[in-house]
Amino acid sequence: MTDIQFQALVVSETPDNVFKREIAKRSFSDLPDFDVLIAVHFSSLNYKDALSATGNKAVTRRFPHTPGIDVAGIVTESRSEDFRSGDKVIVTSYDLGTKIPGGFGQYIKVPAAWIVRLPEGLTLFESMIFGTAGFTAAQSVWKIVEHGVKPEDGKILVSGATGGVGSISVSILSHLGYEVTAITGKPHEQPLLEKLGAKNIISRKEATDTTGRLLLREKWAGVIDTVGGDILATAIKSTRYGGIVTCCGNVASPDLITSVYPFILRGVTLSGIDSANCPLPVRRTIWSKLATDWKIDNLEMLANVINLDQLNSEIDKILEGKVKGRTVVQLHP
Ligand SMILES: NC(=O)c1ccc[n+]([C@@H]2O[C@H](COP(=O)([O-])OP(=O)(O)OC[C@H]3O[C@@H](n4cnc5c(N)ncnc54)[C@H](OP(=O)(O)O)[C@@H]3O)[C@@H](O)[C@H]2O)c1
Repeated sequence: MTDIQFQALVVSETPDNVFKREIAKRSFSDLPDFDVLIAVHFSSLNYKDALSATGNKAVTRRFPHTPGIDVAGIVTESRSEDFRSGDKVIVTSYDLGTKIPGGFGQYIKVPAAWIVRLPEGLTLFESMIFGTAGFTAAQSVWKIVEHGVKPEDGKILVSGATGGVGSISVSILSHLGYEVTAITGKPHEQPLLEKLGAKNIISRKEATDTTGRLLLREKWAGVIDTVGGDILATAIKSTRYGGIVTCCGNVASPDLITSVYPFILRGVTLSGIDSANCPLPVRRTIWSKLATDWKIDNLEMLANVINLDQLNSEIDKILEGKVKGRTVVQLHP
């Protein structure tokens, strides 16, 4: 293989543990020796990418490093019989962008077992409006549907509603006929949340119990929580008999202080969501749902498209909770 150079965001660690981000040249020889070389057309910015880009060792241990847990692109070379040059593909999760160079570079090399073919009904661009955030939102909605919660059973609560996972959760749930209550720290984004289909919008303060009671009035048939901490604890105490709460994130806090009462007196289910190691057959099913009956009408409305040079400031913004919707990064014209 010719050793071609390409551009990437490279995060490096100085001897005094400061993390620097710059757009630099990388070459094919810097990529790991996996079977499939992919030209990255689009990536997207997730909260986890920002953690990796700022040196969070729980996400990325070895630097210099190129983050980017999401890729939609075209196979350039393949030693695997499953993929050929020209195939349009999606790669998200596993070690991409955390342990090995990710989608904030114009090329990646990955094992064939991590790759999902782009499903009919989605473009490369659309697949990255979803990205890991959309995939995680869909996994969370899937849990609610599988649990048997139907639109007529009551309201669904979504936290972090203007964020990546939250906004797509609101959209998919409304698309499926559920009545959604959205929690947001951005009251000025009420028009956006209404366009996505939220019927009620409440503040983070209203969503946080301060009474210390072990059970609160039953309100939610289901909850998609993306933030953790007190908002998650309050949601669990307010979930109706037999309801389900999904938990995928920790932007507010990794802590969860609760009691056994919602579980033993109301039969509430707390369901963890992990997208990174979701098995490939489930992964394919979720992507095909996102391309068909769960494909949301207003998908492009969620996208803010940037290039590599604009990534730096967006990384700071997502860490401050200031991003709304999905930031899609274009790497090839
Ligand atoms: N388990 C998995 O496989 C998986 C996959 C994807 C993401 N995640 C996790 O899910 C979480 C959300 O990811 P994302 O990509 O959607 O992030 P994001 O785009 O940054 O959205 C997070 C949203 O949470 C709200 N928020 C921010 N700081 C908050 C705080 N201190 N208290 C309460 N709410 C706050 C904000 O929405 P409002 O202003 O509207 O409140 C923000 O837009 C992250 O923790 C991420 O690591 C996990």
